Amino acid sequence: MELHERALACPKCGDLLEVAVDASQHEPSVLKNLWLERRMSSCARYASGVWRFREFLPDYAEEGIVSLSEGNVPLVRGQVTAAWAGVRNLWFKHLGWNPTGSFKDLGMTAGMTEAKFLGAKTVACASTGNTAASLAAYAARGGMTARVYLPAGQASANKLAQALDFGAEVVQIEGSFDDALNALLASTGDDLYFLNSINPFRIEGQKTAMFELLEQLAWNAPDYLVIPGGNLGNSSAFGKALRELKGHGFINKVPRMIIVQAEGANPLARLWRSGAKELAAVEYPETVATAIRIGNPRSWKKALQAIEFTDGLVMDVTDEEIGEAKRMIGRDGIGCEPASATTLAGIRKLVSAGTIDREATIAAVLTGHALKDTDYIIKTQMESREDSTVRV
Ligand code: F0G
Repeated sequence: MELHERALACPKCGDLLEVAVDASQHEPSVLKNLWLERRMSSCARYASGVWRFREFLPDYAEEGIVSLSEGNVPLVRGQVTAAWAGVRNLWFKHLGWNPTGSFKDLGMTAGMTEAKFLGAKTVACASTGNTAASLAAYAARGGMTARVYLPAGQASANKLAQALDFGAEVVQIEGSFDDALNALLASTGDDLYFLNSINPFRIEGQKTAMFELLEQLAWNAPDYLVIPGGNLGNSSAFGKALRELKGHGFINKVPRMIIVQAEGANPLARLWRSGAKELAAVEYPETVATAIRIGNPRSWKKALQAIEFTDGLVMDVTDEEIGEAKRMIGRDGIGCEPASATTLAGIRKLVSAGTIDREATIAAVLTGHALKDTDYIIKTQMESREDSTVRV
């Protein structure tokens, strides 16, 4: 199939598509230096933390790139959190410190660039909130109309506000994210370009988070890579990155990938525990981590391949464990949204079970900024604190 064909699934087998990358002509040591040099460039195409890795991305003319200088986010060492989880070497890759406050921007710059290349006028996604905010911003940047499908009353007010602020058309769907995605995929009529994470170009952008993480660790893979799991686009993208980097000799070993889901929205964790061959959807997903309140993740096969390739595992954590972990990430001065805190909750659980060694090096990916769900913070913190009483 041609690179720029507008399809989301293989016409033969129906599975999701993937961009094939050929970077065999590049020498790893040369590229590693070049990628670092580009960070210092004043040219947006080079300086973006996504596009500076463009040898592994589809190629576009400079003026065609839709960018908000995404990526290049720090790796922050866990202190209070490391002690709380019982480990010595804990690092957070904070993808919430991107332009719209979530990791979605990394994929969106690539997906929106492809949309522009194809001459799309209207771009659309279904979303639990973050994809909507990111799509809205990048569509505005690229001069396109954004249409976002949200599960009515379930996305956080902050994310809805972002989508509105960036000028998106908002379609509220009764039901869950899965219903919203089905409604979008079934919609015909307008000439829409789909930008959910099943879009292979978004996966390409998202995978660069791994390039950057490994660069920050001097190309020494950590023992574990811990990430939240929702629709499983991120797990797929990171798995693809690790396959490519290992395959082309940029790293000697890959980290074991641990996908952490919320207990009330845990179809992949269930599959993993049961050894089933096919995913059984969770019909009514429920969790405080609304970003990952997803019962029927589309990219489950690719996520599972990533787990198998890295000898990883899939697990789940309760809403209480998410809340506790989120508070600790806040006490570390870092902060994140509830979905991202699944990572620390999972690490603590695996350390106390003896699965993760205290000396292991662990990189946890924080996917969204603390200000992405302020209602949750105020509700949970006000309940538990006496000092929040107003005295007159
Ligand atoms: N963390 C956050 C903050 C998210 O917004 C999402 C997904 C995930 C984790 C899970 O990532 O789907 O690649 O496994 N949010 C999507 C959205 C579904 O619409 O914003 P995933």
